[in-house]
Amino acid sequence: MTSRKPTEELEHEHRIIQQVVGGMAVIIEKLESGSEIDPVVLTDLSEFMQTFGDKCHHGKEEDYLFKLLEKKGVPVSGCPLAVLLHEDEKGRSLMADLKLTSETYIRTPRAGKEALIGTLRKLIELYPAHIWKEDYLLFPMTNKLLNDSEQKELLAQFEQHDSEIGIDVHHGFEQLAGRILEMICAGAGTCHAA
Ligand SMILES: [Fe+2]
Ligand SMILES: [Fe+2]
Repeated sequence: MTSRKPTEELEHEHRIIQQVVGGMAVIIEKLESGSEIDPVVLTDLSEFMQTFGDKCHHGKEEDYLFKLLEKKGVPVSGCPLAVLLHEDEKGRSLMADLKLTSETYIRTPRAGKEALIGTLRKLIELYPAHIWKEDYLLFPMTNKLLNDSEQKELLAQFEQHDSEIGIDVHHGFEQLAGRILEMICAGAGTCHAA
């Protein structure tokens, strides 16, 4: 029996993040067509991106996977780690912008709309390409470099990381992602985000 690989867990998280990023495109469409967005959607979206996307997911990549790869001889200043770290930084700053622009929009929708659309667009530009590089370059490389016991140890570190953030962080955030998408798509006949 083959056991689950740490990269499979990260790929699974990518699919959840991608669905939520798909929801951002629907929010932009709604804003541009003059609809107002429920404040709960925006605060949940911001919380999801900061806690699940950054703390939980990027935490696993940066604090454990990248460190292990560095030990195995992959330079952090070279390809692909340097590019990915740079994009993570960019992602963090966009998540901070998402929080701020959402708060402004919630207070004054008219004044905050354009800045919120701009931030959502930048997130949509960043994430699919970042995730692609990890799924097709970083993870295959990881699985070539790590032996079975290193894989097991990394998976245990991921579990520990999740439990430090909170019991059942995964289940909770998968449910939150589902709720965000349901709220975004409410009233729409078809929703390509879900
Ligand atoms: Fe990443
Ligand atoms: Fe990732």
